[in-house]
Amino acid sequence: MRSKDGRTTKDGIRIYQEADFVGMHVAGKLAAQILDDIGQHVFPGQTTGEIDRIITNMVDEAGAKSATIGYKGYQHASCISVNHVVCHGIPSDKKLKDGDILNIDVTVIVDGWFGDTSRMFVAGKLPRKAERLIQITHDSLMKGIEAVKPGNTFGDIGHAIQSYVESQRMSVVRDFCGHGLGQVFHAPPNVLHYGRPGTGPRLEEGMFFTIEPMVNLGRAETKILADEWTAVTRDKSLSAQFEHSIGVTADGFDIFTLSPGGKFDTSFR
Ligand code: MF3
Ligand code: CO
Ligand code: CO
Repeated sequence: MRSKDGRTTKDGIRIYQEADFVGMHVAGKLAAQILDDIGQHVFPGQTTGEIDRIITNMVDEAGAKSATIGYKGYQHASCISVNHVVCHGIPSDKKLKDGDILNIDVTVIVDGWFGDTSRMFVAGKLPRKAERLIQITHDSLMKGIEAVKPGNTFGDIGHAIQSYVESQRMSVVRDFCGHGLGQVFHAPPNVLHYGRPGTGPRLEEGMFFTIEPMVNLGRAETKILADEWTAVTRDKSLSAQFEHSIGVTADGFDIFTLSPGGKFDTSFR
């Protein structure tokens, strides 16, 4: 028999306590602040490797730890996914070009709590079709978050995202999902970005997880490159992603990774 504070649901999902929300807010805010501050370093001619070095220094200077350095052999403080890269892009010496769109994904550990967030940026001028992709991806995440409250299910979240994205004639990636997190990086459940209403585990107050939809302009299929990390769209179409870490409250949700500067949805403009 587990004590009240150690409770896990039958699906293996940990139920955190009220005080744990504080730790998640501190970690989530740092990850979001780093993304706020990195925007000025994204421009044509810049390398994703340099962006990652700046992020590494920001994490150090905050006295935090990167969750990704050393994770399954990954060696960087961020994933930077450019254009048709869906996720897990590895920072490199390749230069950004005018009109490139990129997702920057940062996960930090502060006092043992994990803050995981990503958002889109653009180098130079934002192409019109990329703007639409980015806006719809962002809005799909927010529609998923709005489905979060006790009594709803994870399928309700996935359905909210999928139905919106497909109504806009774009596709939701099925090969990657959000995840439980808290005092660990990746925990149950898998948070699918597609699904049917009323299916999947029921949401309960105290669950912590990410929602991080990846949306493609073309088909949903992905493949992994020979580096064993980089995921790309099979049809080379553009892909976008936004990610928040959130907690379920008594009557809804609490977003841990809100942008302190209010830049989450507008940073790409
Ligand atoms: N931050 C990613 C996520 O949203 C995970 C990156 S793992 C890495 O879950 F090793 F690729 F960095
Ligand atoms: Co994540
Ligand atoms: Co992430």
